[in-house]
Amino acid sequence: MNSYETVKSQLRSAPRTWLVTGVAGFIGSNLLEHLLRLDQRVVGLDNFSTGKRSNLQEVQRAVSPEQWQRFSFVEGDIRALDTCRDVCRGVDYILHEAALGSVPRSLADPITSNESNVSGFLNMLVAARDAQVRRFVYAASSSTYGDHPALPKVEERIGKPLSPYAVTKYVNELYAEVFASAYGMETIGLRYFNVFGPRQDPQGAYAAVIPCWIRALIKGETIYINGSGETSRDFCYVENVIQMNLLAATSTNPAAVNQVYNTALNARTSLNELFGKLHGRLLPHYPHLQGCTPVHRDFRAGDVLHSQADISKAAGLLGYHPTHTIDQGLDVALAWYMANL
Ligand SMILES: NC(=O)c1ccc[n+]([C@@H]2O[C@H](COP(=O)([O-])OP(=O)(O)OC[C@H]3O[C@@H](n4cnc5c(N)ncnc54)[C@H](O)[C@@H]3O)[C@@H](O)[C@H]2O)c1
Repeated sequence: MNSYETVKSQLRSAPRTWLVTGVAGFIGSNLLEHLLRLDQRVVGLDNFSTGKRSNLQEVQRAVSPEQWQRFSFVEGDIRALDTCRDVCRGVDYILHEAALGSVPRSLADPITSNESNVSGFLNMLVAARDAQVRRFVYAASSSTYGDHPALPKVEERIGKPLSPYAVTKYVNELYAEVFASAYGMETIGLRYFNVFGPRQDPQGAYAAVIPCWIRALIKGETIYINGSGETSRDFCYVENVIQMNLLAATSTNPAAVNQVYNTALNARTSLNELFGKLHGRLLPHYPHLQGCTPVHRDFRAGDVLHSQADISKAAGLLGYHPTHTIDQGLDVALAWYMANL
């Protein structure tokens, strides 16, 4: 059995209590579904700023009534310390996902991003420390690599942040490090790289590229590529992210704790290639896509040109082995969008 299978079987036989913040969001609701399928007890917190009630309803339909009963949901905001204290009570592991994502959103409104991503994060750390949770695992971001040109990205070498969002995510890492050294907390930061999968929001100005393009292709709308299309990303299917969260929360390797880890595949796909993958898969189902070509427009401020993760640290210290390539992930995600859009 590999590390992930071992962890899952241990959790099944000795269920724990988990707090998932941002539980009504894309990654949070996928974490919830997997934890409930493993018969875990889950407390969820969300203020529905970008998350959706329908995501929770979908999880409810996906699990058994007994599993759903092990979930308790609190509608609330991480910007309120009392709320954070309430939800941390009696919890073993925290998976902290609540934040305002999107580089362009943070450029348009840096103050609100800072309130949730920095002040809210600090509230959660204080509440977790005082509740003496076993471990605090949090969503960090590949945006922390900023303007550092090296590829693939190695955890220890970062550049200057290129957006307010990147600043907030880097501040998370600094606070987590200080809470580890000053208060003896166990924290692990997961630098997610362009995660995609079912329930990722395809709507609105701040939608991520994969769901945004899938929606536009299905609806017959114009696809815009910012820049030449040679911009590349390490697109990571959400199940790999779930694996990283479970390994990080439960690792008994002392060297693995109080670290940050790249959470990705170590693959690089350009936007032009991504368009080809999506178009090729959707064309048999949507004849209107015959002859469809993308329109190029200006490169977007705050974006990095290329991104690709070195995942050897996560493999070595946590036993991480991604289960899904981008192609395998796109097959599952596209089936979901075709059924749900
Ligand atoms: N999706 C990615 O590619 C990616 C990449 C890097 C980092 N991340 C990080 O992963 C985490 C989850 O992202 P996601 O893609 O699932 O986004 P999402 O927007 O779907 O989920 C975030 C959830 O947090 C909730 N939330 C936001 N502010 C809150 C607050 N003040 N109080 C309570 N709840 C609040 C939202 O309502 C939402 O349900 C975020 O921290 C994000 O910054 C995501």
